[in-house]
Amino acid sequence: MHKTTQEISGKFKGADILSLGQFSASDIHKVFVTADKLKPLRQKSKASNLLSGTITSLIFYEPSTRTFSSFCAAIKQLGGDTIEIHNVASSSVAKGETLSDTINTLQSYSDLIVIRHPEAGSAKIAADTASIPVINAGDGTNEHPTQTLLDLYTIYERSERLENLTGVIAGDMLNGRTVKSLIRGLSLFKGNILYLLSPEKLRLNKEELEKFSKSIKLVEISKTQDIPKNADFWYWTRVQKERFTNEKEYEKLKHSFVLTPELIKTYASKNTYFMHPLPRVGEIETNVDLHPNALYLSTQMKNGVYIRMALAALALGKIK
Ligand code: NCD
Repeated sequence: MHKTTQEISGKFKGADILSLGQFSASDIHKVFVTADKLKPLRQKSKASNLLSGTITSLIFYEPSTRTFSSFCAAIKQLGGDTIEIHNVASSSVAKGETLSDTINTLQSYSDLIVIRHPEAGSAKIAADTASIPVINAGDGTNEHPTQTLLDLYTIYERSERLENLTGVIAGDMLNGRTVKSLIRGLSLFKGNILYLLSPEKLRLNKEELEKFSKSIKLVEISKTQDIPKNADFWYWTRVQKERFTNEKEYEKLKHSFVLTPELIKTYASKNTYFMHPLPRVGEIETNVDLHPNALYLSTQMKNGVYIRMALAALALGKIK
């Protein structure tokens, strides 16, 4: 069955969640309100039968710790069941099965599919194949919408708004899918400015920069001295090693910008909070972890479960 990537426009039941581009501000609000409702179940480890009788297939062609386990936790907390393919080498993918054959199989056994895949556009191919909803858990360098929804939820909790924010995004703009989805997400709201701090070689490609700049103010910077001192948040990211063809080039660029207590002291305000989608591989010093405004090891991770509970319940049509 062929489906185009549709705007959600308030209709979550049966919807694929592939890109932040499908969401309006009110769709994002709906996800937040649903997450607020479901959150106490996880916080109090309370049994729920909201998703009982449903099965969600998780198929991850790339490594994952948080996205995979938080989806599992979210579904199980709501009483749903899961088929978990974390290591595709143990599935028929290793025998050369095509993505659509694999997706066809999983849709025969389940009600919802969550997929991570190294190729940009693969989640869309999966969604076109399946007649059940598909959630993109990261497709190559393209998008990671569920990460962005939890990031926006975290920003909203902390700043009490999604408008008129000044943010710094650091790291790998070229290859980082969390960056692309976050830019799309914040461009739905008025007055946001994002400073993109990266080595020149890891800037957004020209096309993307032009496209995004139509709806949000982006300022590319390559020196820490250009970080604005009034930022609401800093969103640090890892240089995406697996997207490099030249390992030496990766080694040269990987620690171009490291988040340290000194950097915070020099350029952050006392209210600036610090985010990272994780995993980190040396770009945030561990002595930043205890900073009261460091959210990456605590709030952001927990919010990942609440947001994924909301998305699964909405896509399966189990909550209004
Ligand atoms: C991110 C991803 O997979 O894009 N991880 C995650 O899901 N939190 C970020 C990354 O791998 O750098």
